[in-house]
Amino acid sequence: MKIVMLGAPGAGKGTQARLISEKYGIPQISTGDIFRANIRENTELGQRAKSYMDQGLLVPDEVTCDLVVDRIRREDCANGYILDGFPRTIPQAMALTRSLEAQGTKIDYAIDVEVPDDNIVQRMSGRRACPKCGATFHIRYKMPAQEGICDFCGTALIQREDDHAETVQKRLDVYHSQTQPLIEYYKEMGVLHSVDGTRNMDTVFNSICEALNES
Ligand code: AP5
Ligand code: MG
Repeated sequence: MKIVMLGAPGAGKGTQARLISEKYGIPQISTGDIFRANIRENTELGQRAKSYMDQGLLVPDEVTCDLVVDRIRREDCANGYILDGFPRTIPQAMALTRSLEAQGTKIDYAIDVEVPDDNIVQRMSGRRACPKCGATFHIRYKMPAQEGICDFCGTALIQREDDHAETVQKRLDVYHSQTQPLIEYYKEMGVLHSVDGTRNMDTVFNSICEALNES
């Protein structure tokens, strides 16, 4: 099962991708998490990515596409995967399609988590993220068992640097101009499923599972 998660920054792609990964036993591949891990380790890729991420801009396609194409060829992806945050531009989607076609396969589901911009700004200000395992929490909607500590790995939670209000607005602008066209791209491919992401996390997850089981 090969799944692409679509949706604005903060729509809940990461939250839902983690739940899908646990239920179906396939890896969650988040380009944002990969870049953040590289920033933490101060790699060359991390230094390059940081200059774009801090401004709310996209990391260039030539960097991102090779990274994902290599990652999905690894052994743990044999039964499928969930791409969380990739593709984000039409050239990225085309590179992914081409790479899968070369292996005689294709994306099975594109799940678009729909949340209006107003809700997003409110969600981002309350998000807390684990810098080690990438899990996300919310100070009101998804509190960790122990305040400020990741439920999964015990690391102290942080507020992401790109979650400041001005950067969130920039990320939303970039989303509308560069990423939203992917909804039409996957609709034409016949694999698009849209879910209302404004409902609580469990309800959103149930809708996604229905979409995955139905088709
Ligand atoms: P990335 O890390 O992918 O960030 P994003 O797309 O902006 O999305 P987020 O991770 O912010 O949100 P999400 O949809 O995962 O929501 P979450 O589940 O956390 O990318 C960061 C940067 O990296 C980009 O700006 C870019 O620079 C670069 N990058 C990454 N991929 C790239 C690519 N392919 N090409 C180029 N550049 C790339 O939820 C948000 C909050 O809301 C959480 O606190 C959560 O607990 C809460 N929440 C979730 N669901 C609900 C709900 N139903 N109700 C209430 N609260 C909820
Ligand atoms: Mg995310």
